[in-house]
Amino acid sequence: MFTTLQPKVTSITNNPDIDTDEKLQQICALLKHNIPYYDWVGFYFKNGDKKELKLGPYAGAPTDHTIIPFGKGICGQVAESNKNFVVPDVMAQDNYIACSITVKAEIVIPLFVNGKNIGQIDIDSNTPNPFTEADEHFLEFVNEEVAEIL
Ligand code: SME
Repeated sequence: MFTTLQPKVTSITNNPDIDTDEKLQQICALLKHNIPYYDWVGFYFKNGDKKELKLGPYAGAPTDHTIIPFGKGICGQVAESNKNFVVPDVMAQDNYIACSITVKAEIVIPLFVNGKNIGQIDIDSNTPNPFTEADEHFLEFVNEEVAEIL
């Protein structure tokens, strides 16, 4: 699954006919539609000089959490830790921001440009404990491709 998706991600980032937001939008849709346990896929980016994340392109239900302060929730923690955060069971997390009651698990992978953590890709799943190291490696690949166009 991930092996066949990788070249599709690259062809989106290499498409000269669409702008960056449209590329990110298409990547979100590609992942959501092809990976059965990816129910919400979105990018958050550091909001200028502020210590907060701002929602970028996403695929899935609209969320109220368009701004997330650093340190808050899974996303805000990754903004500070610079590390992948895999949550098999969101109910077991104290510092978690619920977007939808159907969400059971979450994975957030930081996005680095020139070694700086400038955002992240965030996936919510309605399936309990669905993520493996293969997801982490695939999403790191996605972020590396995206970093090239930012
Ligand atoms: N659950 C996230 C908030 C973002 S939504 O999943 C879209 C968090 O705890 O940071």
